[in-house]
Amino acid sequence: SFEVVAERSGKTLTVAGDQTIVEALAEVGIRVKVSCEQGVCGSCLCDVLEGEPDHRDVYLTDDEKADNDQMTLCCSRARSPRLVLDI
Ligand code: FES
Repeated sequence: SFEVVAERSGKTLTVAGDQTIVEALAEVGIRVKVSCEQGVCGSCLCDVLEGEPDHRDVYLTDDEKADNDQMTLCCSRARSPRLVLDI
């Protein structure tokens, strides 16, 4: 599991190993616009303010992934213990 801070919403949550960031956000009432839910379409793209995402999508290019300043919330996870998201 890892921690997500939803900066604009003022909420901190834990993402369990068996759930996605989108699911964990929904539990605290934060809805993310999703479409494919497989890391393909980019609908769920979100800016990352702090932390290192574990990119599992095929939407971002390798260069964009290396920047670590945005991520797809439907399938990507965290390499760092904590992510701060602009949501
Ligand atoms: Fe399509 Fe996340 S919903 S990439």
